[in-house]
Amino acid sequence: MKFSRLSELTDLAAVAPSQNISPAHRLWIEQLRQIDAEAIGDNDDGSDVIFGLSQTPKSLPPHYFYDDRGSHLFEEICDLPEYYPTRTEASILRDCAGEIAQITGDCEIVELGSGSSTKTRILLDARMAQGLPLRYLPIDVSGGMLEASAKQLLADYPTLSIYGLVGTYEQALAQLPPPQLSERMICFLGSSLGNLNPAECDIFFSEITNALHPTEYFLLGIDLHKPTEILEPAYNDAQGVTAAFNLNCLQHLNWRFNGNFDLNKFAHVSFYNLEQRQIEMHLRCLESCTVTLKSLNLTVEFQEGETMMTEISRKFDLQEMSDYLWQSHGLATVRIWTDPNQWFGLMLCQLQPAIS
Ligand code: AVJ
Repeated sequence: MKFSRLSELTDLAAVAPSQNISPAHRLWIEQLRQIDAEAIGDNDDGSDVIFGLSQTPKSLPPHYFYDDRGSHLFEEICDLPEYYPTRTEASILRDCAGEIAQITGDCEIVELGSGSSTKTRILLDARMAQGLPLRYLPIDVSGGMLEASAKQLLADYPTLSIYGLVGTYEQALAQLPPPQLSERMICFLGSSLGNLNPAECDIFFSEITNALHPTEYFLLGIDLHKPTEILEPAYNDAQGVTAAFNLNCLQHLNWRFNGNFDLNKFAHVSFYNLEQRQIEMHLRCLESCTVTLKSLNLTVEFQEGETMMTEISRKFDLQEMSDYLWQSHGLATVRIWTDPNQWFGLMLCQLQPAIS
């Protein structure tokens, strides 16, 4: 690690200056993002936009959804009546968090894409109820979101210590600090895995298993295959929040790269591709136009009716996933939990020692 910074928590620290467990001593935030951007090939420079827009058909990487407005729109999506994944996963977590705490014992929690850390609280509550030590390592690209959620958690859990990592999964997984408790569990919730195609999944799980020591845990939340009538409304809600979320990536590109996308000339499209078992989100061009992203030196022509893919959200099968994780990555499934409808699945896996 090349650079660390103790978060500015003077306000909270002032409340309990004499205790050695004052919040300031329980929070450490590591900034990974700027430092290794070149070395690890982070795509923050827009090269991924240039690449995606020069392909046929055009595409955009899904991380451009998540500027400030996009992150808020995503939080809104999570509360929509049609968007079942968040609340289904939370209900499963509430049912099994006690068991997870029992199985994993003296274990610190690493979370990829921690966001608002809402679901993490369910895991922390269960650990606290069992008198287990609380240590949490959130990882997120949004430093502001991470710090705000961390402060709130510290205020709510007096025995919690937090080591946050601001950066991409790749960066963070490659440089996790040494464990302070006897076990460690990496969590990847919300079916964010669905954004990755099979080849990207392989790379991602290799990064996970490289970051884990044998017998350490991996907790994975995945959205499951189900009828199209349930899937499609979840990505095309009546209030149009998902449409706004999809279109917002153009707005994001406009301010980020000095562009002139006219949002009125594009429309949200989403559907379930049954063969690929994935929701696909696209933006369809309503009227041919020329778009320039000045700071990328990029000019792109759009034809009327042309679509550009903005996201895949794959839907999985628990047995297939369990077989794949074991056979391709040496991750053994310890337990699987699901909801009564079997709409969403939670898998607790453990890295097995290599057999020599
Ligand atoms: C954050 C990738 C899990 O695929 O369901 C929600 C993103 N896109 N609505 C998903 C999303 C449109 C979400 N993930």
